[in-house]
Amino acid sequence: MSVYSGKKLRIEIYGESHAEKIGVKAAGFPSFTFDESALNEFLARRKATDSVFSTSRKESDSPIFYGIKNGRIDGEFTAEIKNENKISKDYSALYAKPRPSHADYAWHIKDGALDFSGGGRFSARLTAPFCVVGGILKQYLKTRGIEIESYASSVGKVFAQSYKSGALSAEEIRTKRNAGFPSLDKKDEITEEIRAAKAAKDSVGGTAECVIFGVKGVGDNLFGGLEGKIANLIYAIPAVKGVEFGDGFDLAKMRGSMANDGLYIDGGEVGFYSNRAGGINGGIANGNPITFRVAFRPTPSISLPQKTVDLERKENTEIVINGRHDACVVPRALPVIESAAAIAIADEIL
Ligand SMILES: Cc1cc2nc3c(=O)[nH]c(=O)nc-3n(C[C@H](O)[C@H](O)[C@H](O)COP(=O)(O)O)c2cc1C
Repeated sequence: MSVYSGKKLRIEIYGESHAEKIGVKAAGFPSFTFDESALNEFLARRKATDSVFSTSRKESDSPIFYGIKNGRIDGEFTAEIKNENKISKDYSALYAKPRPSHADYAWHIKDGALDFSGGGRFSARLTAPFCVVGGILKQYLKTRGIEIESYASSVGKVFAQSYKSGALSAEEIRTKRNAGFPSLDKKDEITEEIRAAKAAKDSVGGTAECVIFGVKGVGDNLFGGLEGKIANLIYAIPAVKGVEFGDGFDLAKMRGSMANDGLYIDGGEVGFYSNRAGGINGGIANGNPITFRVAFRPTPSISLPQKTVDLERKENTEIVINGRHDACVVPRALPVIESAAAIAIADEIL
């Protein structure tokens, strides 16, 4: 079980990839009625649907709720999702042989595991219940004027247009993403980059950008900083290896005169000429859209031969992974990023 214990929210995600079910126990939620069909549409964005982008392991991922009546949440609930499509035999040849750069060897060090079937509790299957709570909180935040959207910004060597200044509205992002999934442009090049990696029995990494609209004055200095709060939740997502806010690492190359976000006043309202800080100064949301970029490693499970060890026989060996895997995790990770951001913001404002 993995537990998020925030200021108000408590979220326990349990289960394993090849167990009968996975689920989430949530507490500290606001009393409100959510739209179950809108939640299912959100969850569908995480599901494996496209044969180029994703694994052929398809699941209905329909949550069964306990403690919710007619969509009305009253503080606490549990949601469970059945694992309908598990094939453990894909992993029989991998017994005691950790997949390089997956969690297998770290799992062995921690718990002595040798059967790494399905990745156990480290599998990205557990991002399904993550998205159940995130999708519900996204709906709640919308009632408070806060919207969160994300899109793929690069895959391998293909970079789509960046909108990390927050120049597009939430509605514009949704419209462009629906037309150019998973990015806002360069759909064909990105699809080809993923297809080529898959055809070469390989995988490919990428980045996603996320924008949070409508947050102002949330967060505080030092340990109360909003960047740390969001980043903490983003790093809970498997395969995330980097997070940067606004212009992030590029700021290190600039002079102050270029990096600073000048202010203006218009009709009594303060605004900014730019958004290189990503909407946060001093750990507090300054009213500009909060923007951050997330780096995802290439999917660890690839079908090319790889060097590893046999932990039982204590000898070097090679493996070929034949299971069903995503060639690039970025397209399916987008709703998980939005969920992590929703949990961070909701925990602050509740
Ligand atoms: C949406 C999503 C789908 C993923 N699909 C796969 C997959 O099919 N095969 C795989 O080996 N890893 C996949 N991963 C990544 C692994 O879960 C992850 O690399 C592993 O748990 C080790 O964690 P780490 O990369 O954070 O160290 C996926 C991650 C996400 C977010």
